[in-house]
Amino acid sequence: MAAPTPIVLDVDTGIDDACALLLAGLHPGLDLRAVTCVGGNAPLPQVVSNTLAVLHTAGRDDVPVAAGAERPLLAEPHDARHVHGSDGLADLDWPRSPHAPDERHAIELLRDVLRAAAGAGERVTVVPLAPMTNIALLLRAYPDVAAGIAEICFMGGAANVGNATASAEFNVFHDPEAAAVVIDACTDLDIPIRMYGLDVFYRPAVTREQAQRLIDADPTGPAGLAGRLIRFQCDRFAADSGTIGDAGAVCAVIAPEALTTRRLPVRIELGGTWSRGRTVVDLRDWTGDLAHDPHGQANTRVEVALDVDADAYVDLWLDTLLRGTP
Ligand code: BDR
Ligand code: CA
Repeated sequence: MAAPTPIVLDVDTGIDDACALLLAGLHPGLDLRAVTCVGGNAPLPQVVSNTLAVLHTAGRDDVPVAAGAERPLLAEPHDARHVHGSDGLADLDWPRSPHAPDERHAIELLRDVLRAAAGAGERVTVVPLAPMTNIALLLRAYPDVAAGIAEICFMGGAANVGNATASAEFNVFHDPEAAAVVIDACTDLDIPIRMYGLDVFYRPAVTREQAQRLIDADPTGPAGLAGRLIRFQCDRFAADSGTIGDAGAVCAVIAPEALTTRRLPVRIELGGTWSRGRTVVDLRDWTGDLAHDPHGQANTRVEVALDVDADAYVDLWLDTLLRGTP
């Protein structure tokens, strides 16, 4: 059997970040080496507490968790507790972890993990599932960590739609400057970058019945938590199913073949009245347009996810949760 893929997550837990943490913590094909936290869906102390609680439920107290940036680089923070519940974790009153976070700042923990990997001749997949403030700070402060990164596979942006605004996705809208820095640094440092955005994000969805099956399988364990997180979404949005959300970006690491991507020029809109935070994905292919574009084409290229085998990702997530143990 191939060695598990080393991976780190950067999260703003968050219902769907929790879905991602459970998958990353339990799937035998992944070696989860660290989790770092950033303010986003909820304020940072709540994000850290939620993240520790989810990993404790998954039996993964061995994974170091560090707190990072409390706020975006420049923008004002706007949390998303209207989506995730007042505690950011579906208001389940889920038991807290007895463990404390690592004493290092998030970017110091990531630096240490990535340098250690590089020293051992390994590369780690970095999966940001939140505003990319920590990742921007990391790549600018410690560019040498690029030697320990296999790729950055981030949840954020969209080629076609928005959620936080009509044109922008939440994670990029929350800290557009950070997203722009990350895309720029990836070009500069030759780090492959994949965007798991809103064009695919909502598609892998778990039904209310499947959620109940998870809850029945292990009411107080990881499956029980996962099922309740889906059920909360079904109730909140009066829907028959709820997305696994950020967990799809982790699926993209485990099963990249189920994702259709295209390498495309991408810019982040940093001005704009109604479009700030938009990922401007250049889908044009007529050379006439491109040659006469006064802006020229972006040299920052990203593998943009445009389609997903949603059933494959739902099955992957459900099977992992139902199997349960790390
Ligand atoms: C993203 O925003 C957050 O609310 C979710 O956790 C996800 O990372 C979706 O736009
Ligand atoms: Ca998130």
